[in-house]
Amino acid sequence: MARLLLTNVKQLVNVREQWPVLRGKELALLPCIDNAFLLIEDDTIAAYGPMEQLPSINRSLPADTIDATGKLVLPAWCDSHTHIVFAASRENEFIDKLKGLSYAEIAAKGGGILNSARKLNDATEDELFNMAWERLTALSRLGTGAIEIKSGYGLTVAGELKMLRVIKKLRERSPLTIRATFLGAHTYPVEYKDNHQAYIDLIIQEMLPVIAREKLADYIDVFCETGFFSAAETETICRAGIQHGLKPKIHANQLNLSGGVQAGVAAGAISVDHLETMDEDAISTLAGSSTIGTLLPTAAFFLRMPFQPARALIDAGCAIALASDYNPGSSPSGNMNLVVNMSCIQMKMLPEEAINAATLNGAWAMECADELGSISIGKKASIILTQPVPSLAYLPYAFGSNLIDKVMIKGEWVQ
Ligand code: NIG
Ligand code: FE
Repeated sequence: MARLLLTNVKQLVNVREQWPVLRGKELALLPCIDNAFLLIEDDTIAAYGPMEQLPSINRSLPADTIDATGKLVLPAWCDSHTHIVFAASRENEFIDKLKGLSYAEIAAKGGGILNSARKLNDATEDELFNMAWERLTALSRLGTGAIEIKSGYGLTVAGELKMLRVIKKLRERSPLTIRATFLGAHTYPVEYKDNHQAYIDLIIQEMLPVIAREKLADYIDVFCETGFFSAAETETICRAGIQHGLKPKIHANQLNLSGGVQAGVAAGAISVDHLETMDEDAISTLAGSSTIGTLLPTAAFFLRMPFQPARALIDAGCAIALASDYNPGSSPSGNMNLVVNMSCIQMKMLPEEAINAATLNGAWAMECADELGSISIGKKASIILTQPVPSLAYLPYAFGSNLIDKVMIKGEWVQ
């Protein structure tokens, strides 16, 4: 058995014997141990405690030791909303946006999601796999240990299945914990622009049965938005997904009050994501449900939208998570350190709240909290070892600096 001992850890962050999803005020409670040790056996967290208790662990067994003086140890980030399988970046649209075109105008010009779909359908499965693998590797160096990945740039039976097979292969080969989400309902392909029902039928009758049979997805997603999928269409697609064993996790209230939050809650969604545009009813509906609200601040930043109302959501008692939304159109970055920085700077989340939302609640939003999201005995040794820093709050404060020393995924240091 491989044993690794980290000693003199300045602060062991998010240490828990129990790890319920955190709602409202609970999000600010981040249990930590100062001047701590952490013992890892193979891929698992075996013991931790204050340095004074180190003699009580069995030192007769050999263990490699790392002196972590001045450094913090956090659970790896749990990024519960991404679109990292894509064929090409879209910086040309970025230029269009700088010149004043809106997201909706770019979409109407045949850009946006449809542009990505054209390119994805032209790419081979191997090409897509290699590009996504590079992105995944880069993200793991930035501290991401678990990630949800969506389809949704295929929009054809073959394209959607190709994306989901790429995600399946990533899952088989990567040490990261990966969840797959079917987002066939990302936008209407041009040929279905005036016949929405026919595309919904294609999703339900042609895509879902194959996805269920080949076990290609855990979740079903719908972009519930004005000009995309209505709340009623969202509910129909979610119900069909549920019948095929997929739980809903949906895009809601990004650009408009789309009714997406209410539709998601009604469908028993694991999470409703984005939430830039919220009113009283959407907030109280979410607060009264077991659905997690996943905030994607880098998408709001990139699209120059108002940031998500994190404080109002927390005050109302919602369970919120943070994710990157990494995609070529609205968040061409999957850096969860930046997501945490931005959540504090722009949404006034406290460092403790942002870290809980990006670790434990993110793990709940992917249903992997039994193995990741906190420093807990028996959970996977997927951790971030920081550079020496003055305190925890220094992480979101010193935005733009790389404060990570090393990342471990399931007992192995990321190279
Ligand atoms: O989550 N909102 C919908 N989907 C993505 C953007 C997709 C794209 O522009 O490619 C998002 O922001
Ligand atoms: Fe998204």
